[in-house]
Amino acid sequence: MTIAHTSSELSPELLNRLDAIELTDPLGFSKVMAPVMAVAYYRDGAWETPRLTGLEPMDLWPHTQALHYGQALFEGMKAYRNLGDAVPGASALLFRPFEHARRMNRTALRLGMPELPEQVYVETLERLVSAVDKLVPNRQGQSLYLRPTMFGATADLSVVPSTEFCFVVLATPSDAFFTAPISAWIERLFSRAGPGGTGNVKAAGNYAASFAAAAKLGEKGFHQLLWLDAATHTQLEEFTAMNVFVRRGDRLLTPPLSDTILAGITRDSLLRLGPTLGLDMREEPVAVDEVIDAVRSGEEVELFGCGTGAVVAPVELLGDDSGLRLPLPGREVASRLRQHMLDLQHGLIPGPEGWQWPVPKS
Ligand code: PLP
Ligand code: COI
Repeated sequence: MTIAHTSSELSPELLNRLDAIELTDPLGFSKVMAPVMAVAYYRDGAWETPRLTGLEPMDLWPHTQALHYGQALFEGMKAYRNLGDAVPGASALLFRPFEHARRMNRTALRLGMPELPEQVYVETLERLVSAVDKLVPNRQGQSLYLRPTMFGATADLSVVPSTEFCFVVLATPSDAFFTAPISAWIERLFSRAGPGGTGNVKAAGNYAASFAAAAKLGEKGFHQLLWLDAATHTQLEEFTAMNVFVRRGDRLLTPPLSDTILAGITRDSLLRLGPTLGLDMREEPVAVDEVIDAVRSGEEVELFGCGTGAVVAPVELLGDDSGLRLPLPGREVASRLRQHMLDLQHGLIPGPEGWQWPVPKS
C-alpha cells in the first residue's frame, strides 16, 4: 500500500518502513512502535532543532548520568483520529499539548534539566504525528500514544546535574489502557511520594519507586495501586498512573493538588468539563475509610481513575492486604465522563480553546 507523503520529512527508507506497518487489533500498548522518532540534544546551553529520524537503539555510555542518578522524565500524550466536524481540516488531534509542554518543563526544572520552549515541544509533536499519520488508528478510543522523554546524557559519574540532555519523542498506536472496569489495590505499606519530593512531577524515578508495591498486582489479579498519603496512610492520593475521583451521590470529589499528587491534565479537564454537564465537582481530601464505609452502607458511590492512557476508568473492585474485597457497582457518571472526553478528543464535539490541537497529514 502506498501513502501520499508529498511533503514528508522522512527518507525513502523510513517511508518504506512506515508503509510496511499494518495496524491490526488488538493494538495493545507499546506493541507496535512507530519506526520514526523525534530527537534533539541540548549542548553548550542550547537545544538544537529537533529532527525526525528512524527508531534505532541509542549509543549511550554506561556512565550516562540518567542511568545512575535518574535525571530522567517523561510525558504521556495522545494523538486521536479526527472523526468529527468540530475541528475542520485536521487529520489528527493532539489533546491539550501546551499543558503537557508546561508540565514537562515543570518536571525538567524540578530535576535540574533545561526547559524546552513550549512552541518547540508542540511543533515537534505535530511534525512527528503528521509524518506517521497512517499510524493514528481510526477507531474511537484508540490513539497514537506519544511519549516525550528527556534525560541527562552526560557521561560522568559525579553527582552533579548533566550538562547535556536528550529529548526524544516516541509514538505507538495503542488501545485505551482499560476498556472494562478495573480493580484497585489499596497500598497501605509503601508510599508513592513524600512532601517536598517529586510526586507532583513526571520524574521517571517515581515509577521505579512504585514497582515493588506494584508486583503484588499481578499476583493478586489487580490492575492498579491506589496510593494513600505517606504520613497517615488514610487519605486517597492517586492510582499507579491515574488521578482519582470519588462520586458520593451528587458530589464528585478529587483530592486537592499537593506536592505528592501529579497534576493530571485529564483530572483538570474533568474538573472543568464537569460543571458543563451539571456535575458538582470538588477538590477535597477523601479518606479511604469514608469510601469503604459509604459503599458498605449502601450509599451511591463511584470510584474512578483518569489519565491520558486510561481516559476514565471506573473501579469495580477494591482490595487490600487485610482481605478486603469490596465490589463497587456504580459506574454511570464515570462512563458518561469517559464518553464525553473521547467525543471531545476525537473532535466529535467542540472543546475549549487549545484542547483539540489540529495536526494535518503530511
Ligand atoms: N498520576 C500519575 C502517577 C500518572 O502517571 C498519570 C499519567 O500520566 C496521571 C496521574 C494522569 O495524568 P494525565 O491526565 O496528565 O495523563
Ligand atoms: C499516561 O497515562 O500517559 C501515563 O503516563 C501512564 C504511563 C505511566 C503508562
